[in-house]
Amino acid sequence: MKILLLGSKGQLGSKLKNSLKKVGEVIESDRSRLNLENLDQILPFIEKIKPSIIINASAYTNVEAAEDQAELASIVNFKAVDTLAKIAKKLNILFIHFSTDYVFDGTKNDPYLEDDLPSPLNVYGKTKLDGEKAIQESGCMFYIFRVTWVIGEYGNNFAKKIIQLAKERSHLKIISDQQGVPTSPSLISEVLIHLIKSYKSSTKWGFGIYNLTPNGKASWFIIAELIIRFMSEKENQSSVKAITLEPVLTSEFITKAKRPLNSLLDNSKLEKALGYQLNDWKIYFLDDMKRILNKNLK
Ligand SMILES: NC(=O)c1ccc[n+]([C@@H]2O[C@H](COP(=O)([O-])OP(=O)(O)OC[C@H]3O[C@@H](n4cnc5c(N)ncnc54)[C@H](OP(=O)(O)O)[C@@H]3O)[C@@H](O)[C@H]2O)c1
Repeated sequence: MKILLLGSKGQLGSKLKNSLKKVGEVIESDRSRLNLENLDQILPFIEKIKPSIIINASAYTNVEAAEDQAELASIVNFKAVDTLAKIAKKLNILFIHFSTDYVFDGTKNDPYLEDDLPSPLNVYGKTKLDGEKAIQESGCMFYIFRVTWVIGEYGNNFAKKIIQLAKERSHLKIISDQQGVPTSPSLISEVLIHLIKSYKSSTKWGFGIYNLTPNGKASWFIIAELIIRFMSEKENQSSVKAITLEPVLTSEFITKAKRPLNSLLDNSKLEKALGYQLNDWKIYFLDDMKRILNKNLK
């Protein structure tokens, strides 16, 4: 089965390009092969490859910059996704796409369900929601996985920033009132492998939107504490200074983009499709931390 992976150099794409080899022939694409801003180049590119599945791990993901680059964010997160979905429909290709908890405003007290009413607070969230709607309206066969706080061994992310700052500073202020969980690219890979195996068999999952997050609850502060503890437990800790963490409120940080206070997603629909319960976020996270620190503390 030929799988076209778009965004193969991103945090998630870098993981998927290796792990998905178990379930198919992975054709990688990044900006240098297909720039998604060039909408008219998408169809000829896909017609040449003739994939059975398109996985779109590419996106405009800079939440802050999107406030000033709304048009560009919309081209990548909406127009290109709309084009891909229409091509998937026309050529009978399965389309797998990723979205975000940022489609919600975070005012719900409980974890969000797939069919809760979206109401994005920022440009990034709005463009991702437009992308979701375009896929749903295209009539193609699709799975949209809403993920949160992606942190893994590849690319830039919160964990790598904290590791770097811990080497430079003795005091860090970390936001403590945004609730969510890190979603590991390893977990996303595990789910996609399961999904693609099911898709090849007669036990297909229902098409649609699925929340894809591990179990449990965290905040940026809790994650930062865990990172610092984990760093100081590592043998080679010469570069880690003594550091104190101070919890602060979102309202104390001035940012262009507003962020939801509740990023928790209910994953029971996904667990039902998988037929098993997902682990607590710490299990996946500590695995990723080991890999990150092995590279970083050398
Ligand atoms: N990161 C998170 O915390 C988070 C949270 C929730 C949901 N998500 C979603 O999860 C998915 C994967 O995110 P990620 O963290 O892996 O993002 P990422 O590391 O920023 O990777 C995105 C990739 O998309 C590529 N891309 C951007 N614009 C492009 C264009 N015009 N043409 C071709 N490629 C382009 C980027 O290439 P360049 O490097 O060349 O720009 C990059 O390789 C996305 O759908 C994202 O919205 C992420």
